[in-house]
Amino acid sequence: MPAVLVVHGGAWAIPEDLASASVSGVKAAACEGFSVLKKGGSALDAVEAAVRSLEDNDVFNAHGAVLNSEGEVELDAIIMDGKTLGSGAVSSVKNISNPVSLARAVMEKLQTDHMMLTSRGANLFAESIGMATICTEELVSEFERKEWEKHKNYATGIKEDFNAKAHDTVGAVAVDSTGNVACATSTGGIRNKMVGRVGDSPLICGGYADNYSGAVSCTGHGENILKVTLARTIISHMEQKPAAEASELALKYMGDRVHGAGGAIVVTPSGQWAATFTTERMAWAAVENDTLWYGLNPQE
Ligand code: GLY
Repeated sequence: MPAVLVVHGGAWAIPEDLASASVSGVKAAACEGFSVLKKGGSALDAVEAAVRSLEDNDVFNAHGAVLNSEGEVELDAIIMDGKTLGSGAVSSVKNISNPVSLARAVMEKLQTDHMMLTSRGANLFAESIGMATICTEELVSEFERKEWEKHKNYATGIKEDFNAKAHDTVGAVAVDSTGNVACATSTGGIRNKMVGRVGDSPLICGGYADNYSGAVSCTGHGENILKVTLARTIISHMEQKPAAEASELALKYMGDRVHGAGGAIVVTPSGQWAATFTTERMAWAAVENDTLWYGLNPQE
């Protein structure tokens, strides 16, 4: 079974001055995740490693996160296992360097069947398992602090034009050599969001994984993604259609139905993959059979 790993660094109008760093970031993350698969690691291990790499890179919206209306970082993440349909998620967490790993701990280390922890509860859980915290300021990039200064007087939660200004989300999907699929998505959300606003990313909507059909990680304006349950809509199409066509159909539906633009990466248990978007650009990279594909424009 061919192992495949695909990552994205967010679908938006990536400006020229961030283009090269965005491409380097997704290439590095894809290689990091694929090296886990190559050593026989699971799809879950691979997506966690790839998303940690993206989270650690302040060109993306994690370290480098967008700020809420009070100028604070609040991070959301999900990880999902296509074998069991188990998932773990965290939302509105602060001071955590790698929310994707906290999400995985929610999936694997809780003594309950809870699937998602938010805000203080997520931070208390992180403390209980000895996860290190960092100073919130370390998650704020100079670029985002300047953007927040420019936008802070706009109405709270204003819907940004994703093709113009937004700075969105990272994610990974993988299939391992046993045919198991997994996904992970992580984000700082949208700029100037209300304190406590949660978008699609930590919900089973910003990502989905099912060994019967495939794995998806989404990017775009969370409220639009939620309205059309984008990840699950793509998965439903994947039960009938090739991966790229399934994503294109669902993204077109989001555009037609709620005027939403965004993107998705997908992989199937047999190793088909696609990186699709309706924004101007999306940084993406994929590794299959030791071959690396990447770009800011649609796949050719
Ligand atoms: N897609 C990320 C968000 O809207 O929060």
